[in-house]
Amino acid sequence: MQVFITGGAGFIGSTLARSLHRQGHAVTVLDNLSTGRIDNLSGLLGQPHFNFIEGSVTEAPTVAPLMAACDVCYHLAAPVGVHYIMQHPVRTILENIRGIDVILEAAARHHRPILIASTSEVYGRSLDLLDPQQTRSLRESDYRIEGDTQNHRWAYANSKALDEFLALAYYKERGTPVVIVRFFNTVGPNQLSQYGMVIPRFVEAALAGRELLVYGTGEQRRSFLHVDDVVRVLPRLMACPQAYGQVFNLGNPDEITINELARLIIQLTDSSSTIRHVSYEQAYGSGFEDMNRRTADISKIDALIGLDLQYSLRDILRDVIAARRQALRA
Ligand SMILES: NC(=O)c1ccc[n+]([C@@H]2O[C@H](COP(=O)([O-])OP(=O)(O)OC[C@H]3O[C@@H](n4cnc5c(N)ncnc54)[C@H](O)[C@@H]3O)[C@@H](O)[C@H]2O)c1
Repeated sequence: MQVFITGGAGFIGSTLARSLHRQGHAVTVLDNLSTGRIDNLSGLLGQPHFNFIEGSVTEAPTVAPLMAACDVCYHLAAPVGVHYIMQHPVRTILENIRGIDVILEAAARHHRPILIASTSEVYGRSLDLLDPQQTRSLRESDYRIEGDTQNHRWAYANSKALDEFLALAYYKERGTPVVIVRFFNTVGPNQLSQYGMVIPRFVEAALAGRELLVYGTGEQRRSFLHVDDVVRVLPRLMACPQAYGQVFNLGNPDEITINELARLIIQLTDSSSTIRHVSYEQAYGSGFEDMNRRTADISKIDALIGLDLQYSLRDILRDVIAARRQALRA
């Protein structure tokens, strides 16, 4: 197959590109290297049947021939990371919206199956507000409850939600084979810490003997899925025509508090680091809101393709710690 991956120099995209290329597919990556890195594609650059194009998904003349030439597209390009989003609110909104417009128009014209990367952020605070007892996980059909427009934190979530609306509108009006995946926290060895991702941030601090900064009370609960589990699942989903026009959660149902996560990372790295709590205001500026809990109900995707997740949280942390140790030695 000819596979087209936008955002393919990023964390998930480069892992997907490597996996599909290893399976014998021809892979083309389009990335503007805003948060992605060319180093993520080492081992792929210069290989037969691998193509890297530096450019933006907002450029229709760049996207059109790439879409025409592919059998399937994974649209992963987006501004990502809470720190990045808070610092670049205009770019966050415009790149998501201009990018999805260009990508869907091209996919519709050539009738190409396309996976749209969405996010658990689209649920906003719905679990906190709909389920104060905190007994259930988020389902695809749940209401979305987000903050007001004065809080930039929700700009990313809302622009991703608009991506979903537009993709489903193309499916309805033009039969474009779209599949929407709401990624919950995805982690693994190549993820960068500078855009605010919690596991690489904690692991780097623990290995350096620095304090681990926990935002808020640390009692907020999260779940983490290994990127290798994610990239095994995505092509199986795209091979399934029943997935077209559907929205799926993809996350790990096992959750942990951020305080417990920090303690576990200190233990696994054998670090002398301590934990310090920092208010959300100090971390992100005034008015920042967060969810207490964000856990995926994955029964829908499981019923369709049978999820066989292979990595526990400890496996993930061991992989990330080993990769950081190796990078420090290099
Ligand atoms: N990692 C997670 O936990 C997570 C959670 C929810 C959703 N997602 C979604 O998954 C996708 C991939 O995320 P990631 O974690 O790999 O992040 P990433 O930042 O590593 O990857 C995003 C890539 O998109 C590229 N990009 C950004 N704007 C672009 C543009 N206009 N044109 C071309 N390329 C552009 C970046 O340079 C980067 O390589 C994103 O759409 C993100 O919203 C990720």
